[in-house]
Amino acid sequence: MATVLIENLTKIYPPTITYPHRVQALGGVNMSVTGNVFVAVLGPSGSGKTTLLNIVAGVETPTSGSVRAVQDGVPAQVGYVFQEPRLLPWRTVLNNMLYVQDRKSDRSRREAEFYLTMVGLNEVAHLYPSQLSAGMQQRVGIARAFLVNPDILLMDEPFSHMDALTGRSLREYLQRVWLHTRKTALFVTHDVSEAVELADRIVMLRPGGVVFDDIPVNLPRPRHPDDPAVRAVEGEVLRRFDSMEAAVRFGAQAG
Ligand SMILES: Nc1ncnc2c1ncn2[C@@H]1O[C@H](COP(=O)(O)OP(=O)(O)OP(=O)(O)O)[C@@H](O)[C@H]1O
Ligand SMILES: [Mg+2]
Repeated sequence: MATVLIENLTKIYPPTITYPHRVQALGGVNMSVTGNVFVAVLGPSGSGKTTLLNIVAGVETPTSGSVRAVQDGVPAQVGYVFQEPRLLPWRTVLNNMLYVQDRKSDRSRREAEFYLTMVGLNEVAHLYPSQLSAGMQQRVGIARAFLVNPDILLMDEPFSHMDALTGRSLREYLQRVWLHTRKTALFVTHDVSEAVELADRIVMLRPGGVVFDDIPVNLPRPRHPDDPAVRAVEGEVLRRFDSMEAAVRFGAQAG
């Protein structure tokens, strides 16, 4: 079982020549994520979401505090889905999938095809990324991330570059693959309805990188964005979001 334990995590960017102020990207974040859960980190632009994910991934170092990502007592393997798909343009879809596999066996090929089918792309496995739409490319990115089978999957606004209709279908595909694997996931977004559709729990960040709220989402899956139950939770989260904005505007130390 995978666990991410984040303790008193702070990240301060020092002043630079172009921006002569220190920036507090994260201000003492505490959170823990354990087991087969999908956790959304929700916050406005600049609230430290990407910084948090990068520190969990180990590609950035905190100013203070700690992150431990553990799988059954040993350091966990972490996978990352970026905002843009980052496929290799000179490899076909299938070879982009196999590229991340250690062994090029029949089995890994079957697994690659399985995940491509899950995201509705087995028919285009022989095409090159430039022959696919942006949404299809991101579906390859998702299929590839699950194929790698990391202990913990980090996703940083993977649908934010997509138009609304494409985003909608991508969320449906992601739900389908996630339900199959139930991989421990940390998913960053600034989109309330996306968070409610996908997550078991929503950790809300406010500017300055401080946890403002931690909201469980107890809805059955698969979830549909138009389902009144989903809409109701969305309304509740939006209300909390508004109260956070008001608190920030009036300078209160909420959370
Ligand atoms: N390398 C850096 N150097 C200086 N400041 C940085 C750096 N990276 C991020 N910041 C600042 O830290 C704060 C948090 O940035 P971060 O990218 O984590 O926010 P975010 O919540 O991911 O925003 P968005 O929703 O726009 O992606 C911002 O004020 C940002 O300007
Ligand atoms: Mg970001």
